[in-house]
Amino acid sequence: MNKGIAIYPGSFDPPTNGHLDLIQRGSKIFEELVVAILRNSEKTPMFSVAERLEMLKELTADLKNVRLDTFHGLMVEYAKSIDAICVLRGIRAVSDYEYELQMALMNRKLEPTLETVFMMPADKYSYVSSRLVREVAQAGGPVRGLVPEVVELKLREKLDAANRLEEGRLQARAARAAKHKGKEGKRK
Ligand SMILES: Nc1ncnc2c1ncn2[C@@H]1O[C@H](COP(=O)(O)OP(=O)(O)OP(=O)(O)O)[C@@H](O)[C@H]1O
Ligand SMILES: [Mg+2]
Repeated sequence: MNKGIAIYPGSFDPPTNGHLDLIQRGSKIFEELVVAILRNSEKTPMFSVAERLEMLKELTADLKNVRLDTFHGLMVEYAKSIDAICVLRGIRAVSDYEYELQMALMNRKLEPTLETVFMMPADKYSYVSSRLVREVAQAGGPVRGLVPEVVELKLREKLDAANRLEEGRLQARAARAAKHKGKEGKRK
């Protein structure tokens, strides 16, 4: 086991079985692993930071050396602020490699003492991404096996709420149109 703190930064919107696979592997090789959610004001997330924290809390409850946190701005600054010596990142396919290499080298330029470690997930998760999970769920497809059960439930809740809102909007619009038609009918 490596001495010191490692961070695993990401959006986790939502956490997937791929993320969890990496967290489990990371927790075995580092003394302490901090899963750090990036608070990104540019992107409109599907889940709020609080919701993502809540899901990750449930998923990592049995991993005693895993801690959760959030950060914004430069990852290397955040890493320094918590005395992390290493960054954990995942590589799924060749497509991840180019971006991750760029990031790792840029981070090294910003903070030469911070090392990046890459890990591969179990091959059954090597195609799983949060974006794909969001897209499949939004289109009404099954995400069982791609995300933990708690995340599957939260996705369903979130989409049901969004559908109810849309239904309400459509009903209100139909009611307004009917009222308008009624008025026109009287005028004639
Ligand atoms: N299935 C997976 N296997 C291995 N690593 C993964 C997997 N999914 C994400 N990661 C890694 O976790 C880190 C954080 O990723 P991030 O939160 O952006 O997830 P993501 O699935 O890529 O989300 P999005 O699709 O929204 O970009 C990155 O290093 C990413 O490569
Ligand atoms: Mg990504």
